[in-house]
Amino acid sequence: MNNRPAIDITQDIFDHICETIADKGYIVLHNLFPIAVLNNLVDDLSQINTSAFKPAAIGRQKNQQVVETIRSDKICWLDNTMTFAAPYFDWSERLRLAINRYFFLGLFDYETMFAHYEPGTFYKRHVDAFKGQSNRKLTTILYLNKEWQQGDGGELLMYRHDEAMPFETVEPRLGTMVVFLSELFPHEVSLSNKDRYSLTGWYRINEGIPLD
Ligand code: OGA
Ligand code: MN
Repeated sequence: MNNRPAIDITQDIFDHICETIADKGYIVLHNLFPIAVLNNLVDDLSQINTSAFKPAAIGRQKNQQVVETIRSDKICWLDNTMTFAAPYFDWSERLRLAINRYFFLGLFDYETMFAHYEPGTFYKRHVDAFKGQSNRKLTTILYLNKEWQQGDGGELLMYRHDEAMPFETVEPRLGTMVVFLSELFPHEVSLSNKDRYSLTGWYRINEGIPLD
């Protein structure tokens, strides 16, 4: 479980991610990580004891509350003592540096959670960060569902502003990754009919706003 090999990704991919985010504000990637890396991640994450999961909360710091009518997934935060996740954290560090270089940004930190949506759960339409009120600037979601099929639900629906119809629907299939500007896109997780697993992360800036 320890000492997983580093993920071999060329600089071109990071350039491509930055260019696409500059152009569209988001990117959906399908074959970023080799299948062996994904399988290792799934195996290692599935060994996390279920007692480490807690109901996901909404809101910031002191105002956090669990509201199951809005979101009903269970989450477990990752930290750097989880050595099996080192290749994933190395990858996220490379993306952090690439984004900072390309956008002259000061992303300083990356926080990641492993999320489990049980059958019948969802996350209603929301934004991850409100402009000027949050340190979260960039969201990443890596999906970890090996045998996802149409009809299983749990799609990520992405919206522009207050539009009623999503402009993008992402199936949470193993290896699909979405990266988007946290303040820009309302999004939701549609009702999942199967167990649905993902790694969701946020890059943060340090702007004197209390951490959320
Ligand atoms: C979130 C979220 C979307 C997904 O955790 O904030 O919107 O597809 N997740 O898991
Ligand atoms: Mn979200």
